[in-house]
Amino acid sequence: MNYFVDENGYYGDFGGAYIPEMLYPNVEELRLKYVEIMQEPSFQKEFQNLLKEYVGRPTPLYFAKRLSEKYNTKIYLKREDLCHTGAHKVNNTIGQILMAKRLGKNRIIAETGAGQHGVATATVCALMGLECIVYMGEIDIARQAPNVARMKMLGATVVPALSGSRTLKDATNEAIRDWINNPVDTHYIIGSVVGPHPYPDMVARFQSVISEEIRKQLKEKEGSENPDYVIACVGGGSNAAGAFYHFLDEENVKLIAVEAAGLGVNSGESAATSVLGNEGIIHGSKTLLMQTKDGQITEPYSISAGLDYPGVGPLHAHLCKSKRAEFIAITDDEAMEAGLELCKLEGIIPAIESSHALAVFKSKKFKENDIVILNLSGRGDKDLDTYIKYFKL
Ligand SMILES: Cc1ncc(COP(=O)(O)O)c(C=O)c1O
Repeated sequence: MNYFVDENGYYGDFGGAYIPEMLYPNVEELRLKYVEIMQEPSFQKEFQNLLKEYVGRPTPLYFAKRLSEKYNTKIYLKREDLCHTGAHKVNNTIGQILMAKRLGKNRIIAETGAGQHGVATATVCALMGLECIVYMGEIDIARQAPNVARMKMLGATVVPALSGSRTLKDATNEAIRDWINNPVDTHYIIGSVVGPHPYPDMVARFQSVISEEIRKQLKEKEGSENPDYVIACVGGGSNAAGAFYHFLDEENVKLIAVEAAGLGVNSGESAATSVLGNEGIIHGSKTLLMQTKDGQITEPYSISAGLDYPGVGPLHAHLCKSKRAEFIAITDDEAMEAGLELCKLEGIIPAIESSHALAVFKSKKFKENDIVILNLSGRGDKDLDTYIKYFKL
């Protein structure tokens, strides 16, 4: 079984580039050049240097002693929460801004849900002196206010998406519309492993630094590069893609993808695509998505703004269908409790997205000697308001 993208942009049955004609020149230009540009020694040098000096990589692989004791297994946290800007998203935006510069683009657009990708994009635009426009659903603007303020401070223009559920998918629609209208000077920095080929592969490659580091760090700590499990939450799937990447062909490493069940998988208020979704096309790729019988996209729901996307990237659709990864759905309540537990046991306040991954320890039993890596995708500063309201702090 091949888990990497093929020459046509597919992961098994999923992927491709289903785009309007107006976007074809942009996407085709990227498709023809992205691998070559990423492999240039000067690109790699600049990318690696920024990851080290600016983002603060490598992020620690931290042995969570008290959490491990509680669940009677060996848990390591990959601390993406310690990246500059507070989440893994910046690994990808650093890569894509360097790509945009080499493609001669001087205007950057992006979509954002939790605001982390918007902040990461605004950050790299400030770093490189490029114009930045971020589309964000009106609802997300309200529930992620600190990140909206951050983007504005960093010089970005935040444009509210007022259609549909006024969350991530609507922001993505607006960004695609903008790109169609500005095909020549604009690069669209997509924030996850979604969108038309080559985005899912390009973003996965930029995020793959996560599993590259895990392998080295685990070798030093445990004498083996391979853990028994890697766990990560999945919105579109970029932190999971990065954490899984160098383990995809290691069949002994079990992969667990954690989705948001919202109020419950069958409550009508959920974002558990692997359970509720079926094959369709969203934002330029064929994947699993939540839709009505006549193909209209269902409004997703999760307490976590970064996970309420009605689809998953095509790599994850393939991992799900091929059963290479186990998909687990976690409710709002389970995630919030798991987030608070990490605060109390390890002194780390996680993003609510990452709290979904943490909740797996309650629902799945691991063996005492299992080495379990959990990708802690982000820190909880942006979610304080939601934590305060939920726990009446
Ligand atoms: C901290 C954090 N984790 C996870 C996600 C989900 O995105 P992805 O599935 O692309 O990693 C987000 C999205 O905003 C996020 O901010």
